[in-house]
Amino acid sequence: MKPIQSVLITGANAGLGREAARQLALRNGIEKIYLACRNPDKARAAKSALEAETGRRVFDTILMDVSDPNSVRQAVSRLSAPVDAVILNAGGTGGRTPNSLTASGVTNIFASNLLGHVVLVDELLERQLITSTVLYAGSEAARGIPKMGVAKPDMRSSSTDEYVAIADGSKFGPNADPLDVYGTIKLTGAMWMGSMARQHTHIRFVTMSPGGTTGTNGMDDLPFLKKVFFKYVGGTLMPIFGMMHDVQTGAKRYVDGLLNEKFESGHFYASREGSPTGPVIDQVEIDSAFANPDFQDNANLAVHRFVA
Ligand SMILES: NC(=O)c1ccc[n+]([C@@H]2O[C@H](COP(=O)([O-])OP(=O)(O)OC[C@H]3O[C@@H](n4cnc5c(N)ncnc54)[C@H](OP(=O)(O)O)[C@@H]3O)[C@@H](O)[C@H]2O)c1
Repeated sequence: MKPIQSVLITGANAGLGREAARQLALRNGIEKIYLACRNPDKARAAKSALEAETGRRVFDTILMDVSDPNSVRQAVSRLSAPVDAVILNAGGTGGRTPNSLTASGVTNIFASNLLGHVVLVDELLERQLITSTVLYAGSEAARGIPKMGVAKPDMRSSSTDEYVAIADGSKFGPNADPLDVYGTIKLTGAMWMGSMARQHTHIRFVTMSPGGTTGTNGMDDLPFLKKVFFKYVGGTLMPIFGMMHDVQTGAKRYVDGLLNEKFESGHFYASREGSPTGPVIDQVEIDSAFANPDFQDNANLAVHRFVA
């Protein structure tokens, strides 16, 4: 496979995406990093800061709101050369109204964590603008983190209809807690990646969870009390109990997943059972459903129902 020299990262102005950009810029052989961000001011600020921190002028900004397929398509149409790899990192708990529907008919939380990334990968493949690797930001929430009170996603049949109901929110209803919904969306993403890996064998599709990571803005849109609990109380206590790690450790998982070919196409890597941190393992060791080709293809069919 072609060595990775250029990487596009979504949600690259903050948290894990920004730190992955910094670490990649310091790797030999990386010549171009596209910071795909929705806010032009934040994108420019991240570019300047990353240039100063790394001493490298390899960063370009791209305006892209991954919750809006048209914005994604426009951004791809402006790419003048193929990229070797893409890190599908943007996401989180879906803003202030996570369960509201977008023009595509999916919830905001689904659009920003998954639908825009589906459109991005489809566009890159169709225009032959990707040469090597797609890395999707998974999460341990996709198989549950009982120690942190995150239940295993309640999948009944893993049918196409069930994945559609995750996408349009009908599985949970309009008042669902985004933290309950989030794991099922990351699960759908890992399954979609598995299906894509079998269809496009010239590209690696690796799902990698950054693991429980402190110091990012991922909890900022939660209601006030939950934000205080998860971001400040949890963010302080969890690392002490070995339940979370810093952003450098989380982003290094992305970099490893991208550059180390021992991470296999179509597989989902995250922490060991019962933990959101520590070494990563293939999640099929925890739940064989991750390798079920029918479930994977059902997820792929479901997400494509929402791509016009
Ligand atoms: N932190 C963890 O413990 C953890 C664990 C497992 C998985 N993850 C996953 O890791 C990824 C990064 O999380 P993080 O903790 O680094 O969060 P973060 O600090 O909130 O960063 C998220 C980034 O995504 C961007 N973003 C959000 N919605 C977007 C949209 N519609 N279009 C374009 N960019 C958008 C944000 O941009 P703005 O600055 O404009 O908002 C920001 O740059 C997420 O997919 C998350 O689900 C995180």
